[in-house]
Amino acid sequence: MSEQDIIAAERRWGVIVAVTVGIIFAVITVTSLAMALNPPSHVETIDPNTLHLGEFAEANLGTTVGADGAIVTRIVATQFLFEPRCVAVPEGKTVTFRLSSPDVIHGLIVAGTNINTMVVPGYVSEIHAALRKAGDYRMPCHEFCGIGHSEMWAIVRVVPTAQWQPDEHGKVSCAAPG
Ligand code: CUA
Repeated sequence: MSEQDIIAAERRWGVIVAVTVGIIFAVITVTSLAMALNPPSHVETIDPNTLHLGEFAEANLGTTVGADGAIVTRIVATQFLFEPRCVAVPEGKTVTFRLSSPDVIHGLIVAGTNINTMVVPGYVSEIHAALRKAGDYRMPCHEFCGIGHSEMWAIVRVVPTAQWQPDEHGKVSCAAPG
């Protein structure tokens, strides 16, 4: 093999690598810009040992409509369930999902949507999303978290606008009529 042949072969492989990297870059660009599939980058810490005493106390879990109209859904991911097991959100409105874990790493995906994040103890996972179609969406844990992992899932109930009625504290739960 002459030196010319070696240089030609190196060029060929250089082009193949450049094209491959270009394709990967294009896929990342299209999925993030056109399909809104982005890795969550919200870095907010919280003490997992006192998770049940602060923002993620039992009374604060689920969906709350604030005085300013902001809708926040708080969920604790723990071995092996999501608390609450069903959350109600309004159709078509942007909701802030805030999640944390007191024990190990969990994950979640809301089937048929781009809601997808890991829930890491010590951090708050935050997602802003609007679900356009009313109905029940399955939300399984997608990070292996122990023996009960496969049983760990919840429901996101997207409530039609006409049936969306926060109570006097701004809370909305799945048990509410409608
Ligand atoms: Cu929680 Cu798997």
